[in-house]
Amino acid sequence: MPTPRKTLLVHGGCGRRPSTIPEGRDEALARAVAEGLRGKSAIDMVERAARFLEDNPLFNAGTGSVLTLEGHVEMDAAVMTSDLHAGAVGGITGVRHPISVARAVMEKTDHHLLVGEGATKFARHAGFPLYDPRTATRKKRWKELIAKLRAGGEAAEDRYWKRTRSWLERYLSPDERGHRSTIGAVACDAKGRLAVATSTGGIWLKLPGRVGDSPVLGGGTYACEQGAVSATGFGEGILRLGLAKYACDLMRTLPCQKALDRATAFARREGVEAGLIGVDKGGRPGSSKNAPWMPTARSVEGGPGRAPGLPLR
Ligand code: GLY
Repeated sequence: MPTPRKTLLVHGGCGRRPSTIPEGRDEALARAVAEGLRGKSAIDMVERAARFLEDNPLFNAGTGSVLTLEGHVEMDAAVMTSDLHAGAVGGITGVRHPISVARAVMEKTDHHLLVGEGATKFARHAGFPLYDPRTATRKKRWKELIAKLRAGGEAAEDRYWKRTRSWLERYLSPDERGHRSTIGAVACDAKGRLAVATSTGGIWLKLPGRVGDSPVLGGGTYACEQGAVSATGFGEGILRLGLAKYACDLMRTLPCQKALDRATAFARREGVEAGLIGVDKGGRPGSSKNAPWMPTARSVEGGPGRAPGLPLR
């Protein structure tokens, strides 16, 4: 069997192409790859890349996460490796790097998924200091949105998510509505081990307690012997389709790129906007989307690096 190629890909969400791409966004993805490559094992690589992006407020993960209807940040994150080890957190608050808490769940507990208060409490016990990931920009925007809701005679009604959805249509700008900037990373290391990391703040004005696809193993995040896949897009839909696992299963018989293309085509038929990045057991990368845009960056040993507008390595 040929030596696996050390490969790392990251994504910064999918959706419509914003009218103006925030300055530094593409460079951040390229730099996340460079940071990830400093890791030796696949899990180190994806964690390093994800932490880097969680620290960049241009993305909706960690610092810069969007706010819930009540004005808080509740973050979801997961990691998984090809030997089926996994850790995830849902609706975690008060931490800087949810992806590292997810890794701690994998390595320090007998569980795979911790949520809400329990996840936050675990983070404190595991030594993650208290941190407020809300940025001034997000707080200002939240105040504007809530003021608009109230001015429209819509008190902060939180009983029906369908209603929240119609608010999003009405009050968010097309760019805010059209692009979801969840972040994700997949890697294959020199020993052929695979890993995936996905992290997100979810969606604007979500109901407190809403958990999307990202921390759900098989939904937005999955890895197995065949491949590792991170998803971005419409969380409720991706979750329902088990899209990351579906794409990994397809890699049993299809090359990585074809498997991802087939998975995003399936999602399109089901009316679910989705983007996927993946890597297979030989380190072959792939990325696919049924949305107009999904910024990615990658490094493939022995292959050309690719980043939007930037050469890698
Ligand atoms: N895909 C991220 C989310 O919907 O939470």
